Amino acid sequence: MVVCVCNAIKEKDLRAAVRSGSDKPSAVYAKLGRKPKCGQCLSYARGIIESEVASA
Ligand code: FES
Repeated sequence: MVVCVCNAIKEKDLRAAVRSGSDKPSAVYAKLGRKPKCGQCLSYARGIIESEVASA
């Protein structure tokens, strides 16, 4: 499932970046070599990041 349409970031890529040590959207996107553009995805991305951090 795509989390960020602007950057074509998939949920599995987001979760992998969190597992490798990033815990904020800006850090996670940077880890993937991207940065937020429109910002529409950020609250959804935050939720996924929190759930991945909680399950670590
Ligand atoms: S959907 Fe992620 S920055 Fe636009």
